[in-house]
Amino acid sequence: MKAGRPVSSNRFSALLVENVHPDADAALESYGPIDIERAGASPERGELKAALKGKSVLGIRSRTQIDADILDAAPDLLALGCFCIGTNQVDLAEAARRGIPVFNAPFANTRSVAELTLASIIMLMRRVPEKMFAIEQGGWLKTAEGCNEVRKKKLGIVGYGNIGAQLSVLASALGMHVYFYDVEPKLVHGNARPMDSLDALLAECDVVTLHVPSTPQTRNLMNATRIRSMKPGSILINQARGDLVDIDALAAALEDGHLAGAAVDVFPVEPSSKDERFTSPLQRQRNVILTPHIGGSTLEAQAAIGQDSAIKLAKYLYLGSTGHAVNFPQVEPGPIRPGCTRVAVPHKNAPGFLRRLNDAAERAGANVAAQFLQTDAEIGYALADLEGKLPDDFLERINALDGTIRARLLPTPSAG
Ligand code: NAI
Repeated sequence: MKAGRPVSSNRFSALLVENVHPDADAALESYGPIDIERAGASPERGELKAALKGKSVLGIRSRTQIDADILDAAPDLLALGCFCIGTNQVDLAEAARRGIPVFNAPFANTRSVAELTLASIIMLMRRVPEKMFAIEQGGWLKTAEGCNEVRKKKLGIVGYGNIGAQLSVLASALGMHVYFYDVEPKLVHGNARPMDSLDALLAECDVVTLHVPSTPQTRNLMNATRIRSMKPGSILINQARGDLVDIDALAAALEDGHLAGAAVDVFPVEPSSKDERFTSPLQRQRNVILTPHIGGSTLEAQAAIGQDSAIKLAKYLYLGSTGHAVNFPQVEPGPIRPGCTRVAVPHKNAPGFLRRLNDAAERAGANVAAQFLQTDAEIGYALADLEGKLPDDFLERINALDGTIRARLLPTPSAG
């Protein structure tokens, strides 16, 4: 494993690939200047390595794979931004060992999913998909049979996290009675009612919607037994993860009318491109809304992802903040103390590093005006605001300390 180069440069440069949203540019510059180079698609490995020379930041989306070999070609890389939700495409541990924090935008599409869920509830309760199917075939299903307003109906939200809580607020505004079940204690929004168990929620609600992650506990959460324990004529929505629901059991419950409808955006097996054919037993059903994993796919979410990831990167470059990094100890230090120089030191987490850093500051004649430290099992991240003129070789001294991965002096804010 090679550590990155020590850094004292005040001029940062970024490479953004995979058509990162244009709003990222202004957000990247929100704490100070940065030269930005863009590439449209995900570059081929050789091209990426060449383009990374001298770059302090790399911004990718989900297609560009980042491993040790790529990081070897980027000795100046300070931080990596995933302009998306997931970070599986990056070897996070390898980046951390080189002192490179990785940032993403986990909540930027929350609102988009909540809106799609709400729209699905209304459409299914009015049996719109079934009527659309009939009209496409030349039919005219003009009937109120089985069609309801959502007002005063009971909505059961499974997983009251970012999306679940946002949906709770929107559904309450439409007059729905909101119930939820979560494994963690949650702040209740409005008049929503927490339920003691999933089974109690399933027995109570007219619409059940899933907003939990995929974990060993949630896989096949809605199995045949649970689907059958939902109220007759109720509706199931899964816009979370494809392995939460037994799709065959759901298809059977729709087929025999136990459930009145379903909206599904995520499937156990999804085509990897638009050229691959999609098949599911749900395609035969009439009152269903099937969508190709587009819950979070809106222009607004893309813009929010561009801004969210970029601001985290800018804060790291100019303040040393690692808040919300996915692979790094989190330090949110705020502005640099006036008249101070901030030194940022990712290091191996072993006893005595802070003492060595403070001794080095003292020998350099600097007073430690503020200090921040967080560690995880392998990595420590220390920041210090130092008062007094630092010797020219200060960075070299810090890099020579036992345990330093790479030290960096942050740009000094201009006065006024
Ligand atoms: P979150 O992490 O904010 O909330 C998840 C909630 O589920 C947490 O409150 C957690 O305590 C709860 N939970 C975990 N295990 C549980 C269990 N066994 N029973 C009940 N509650 C449980 O996640 P967020 O951002 O709200 O996302 C929810 C889901 O939506 C995730 O699966 C995510 O992958 C998916 N998603 C889907 C998108 C799409 O395009 N369809 C886009 C964005 C997110």
